[in-house]
Amino acid sequence: MPADSLETIANLSKRRGFVFPASEIYGGLRSSWDYGPLGAELLRNIREAWWGAMVRERDDVVGLDSSIIQSRQVWAASGHEASFTDPLVECTNCHHRYRVDKLDDPDQCPSCGKRGTFTEPRDFNLLLKTFLGPVEEDAAVAYLRPETAQGIFINYENVRRSSRLRLPFGIAQIGKSFRNEITPGQFVFRTREFEQMEMEYFCRPEEADQWYDHWLDARMQWYLNLGMHPDRVRLRAHEPDELAHYALVTSDVEYDFPWGWDELEGIANRTDFDLRAHSDASGEDLRYYDQEADERFYPFVIEPAAGVTRSAFAFLIDAYEEEEVKGETRVVLKLHPKLAPIKVAVLPLSKKDDLVGVTDEVAKALRPHWAIEVDVTQSIGRRYRRQDEIGTPYCVTIDFDTLDDQAVTVRDRDTMAQDRVSIEGLVPHLRDKFGTLL
Ligand code: GAP
Repeated sequence: MPADSLETIANLSKRRGFVFPASEIYGGLRSSWDYGPLGAELLRNIREAWWGAMVRERDDVVGLDSSIIQSRQVWAASGHEASFTDPLVECTNCHHRYRVDKLDDPDQCPSCGKRGTFTEPRDFNLLLKTFLGPVEEDAAVAYLRPETAQGIFINYENVRRSSRLRLPFGIAQIGKSFRNEITPGQFVFRTREFEQMEMEYFCRPEEADQWYDHWLDARMQWYLNLGMHPDRVRLRAHEPDELAHYALVTSDVEYDFPWGWDELEGIANRTDFDLRAHSDASGEDLRYYDQEADERFYPFVIEPAAGVTRSAFAFLIDAYEEEEVKGETRVVLKLHPKLAPIKVAVLPLSKKDDLVGVTDEVAKALRPHWAIEVDVTQSIGRRYRRQDEIGTPYCVTIDFDTLDDQAVTVRDRDTMAQDRVSIEGLVPHLRDKFGTLL
């Protein structure tokens, strides 16, 4: 059963330390969130899984880590200064503002319910502006990047030359992006500060369609490989009027969120729009030289652009299950082991001195291999509940028999089956259980 409400996930996230409201002790800051100990691990695991699939496991993609703040000219050339806008309307009765394209009924204010009170839509630019240096003047204007992609385009030639790359090849980047969203909300789904995982795949123009199809498949597969329910994730092609200013075609990977299907990731054919625009604006020739054919041309770009924070949210919703166990409700996050913040919990039945030594011994054996948590407080039932709720695949319980038989009980999160395993054989046993999943 998927988590059918945002509150369920938001409450669990706060209670267990995945996500906290930002600036909470000052009353919070709308649409800003902080990631707690488990959230930080989950985000890391998502980044790792993406970097593994997109960079490490391929021989045609390299990584990059570019600045959040770039020259203002980057955003003029890319078209963001002029065209990165959403249509904003304001209700003349209650003065609430909305993105008109996100309203169920574009004639009725969702806040006060009045009809016909909206102003004409105006283009609202989403770039988050700041000033560099001590003087807030026009010449000091800079923007926090709204996408990581432009950092890739402006480094295209540096990366290509230094890594001696030949088409087709990709440049991948993970990092924070910022947008002055008109209507942020739905927990961490749409925020003004968020994190993206983007890859620009440069290819010959005539091969762009083929690579577009390749990346649609590969990106869908990534979510499925990480355990997302196949019936809750789909691809949807954009209508022409939805396309971003740079895109020839785009398809979204969509997830069936509690409010319906919505975007998880966009995969676009950006053509040669960006390289051409930066060539024109900077005067640098960013065409590719094909030695064999002795020709120069602008490569086309296929871009899979995903969100770290948005994926984390979708994976949490997707993993959430409530089960009836012996007349009680068990809440369990069936996260893929790769994503689970804690892989193994070590739970001594008692915190009395007798079990301290053996608990340390087990923890010491496991720690070099996996992220573990040693939990000695509360009843064993409550500790299992906590581990189920945070998605820990295996719990290792140490009891008083352990002192005699040098064995522990391994409990499987999903089946709740328990195996008695010798301490000596624990690491190979768990390694076997995780198999190829990690
Ligand atoms: N470079 C292309 C690009 O940025 P996008 O569809 O605007 O495309 C890509 O963004 C992904 O970034 C989205 O699919 C989503 O996962 C994430 N994203 C975009 N805006 C976001 C926001 N305001 N809050 C959280 N995630 C966001």
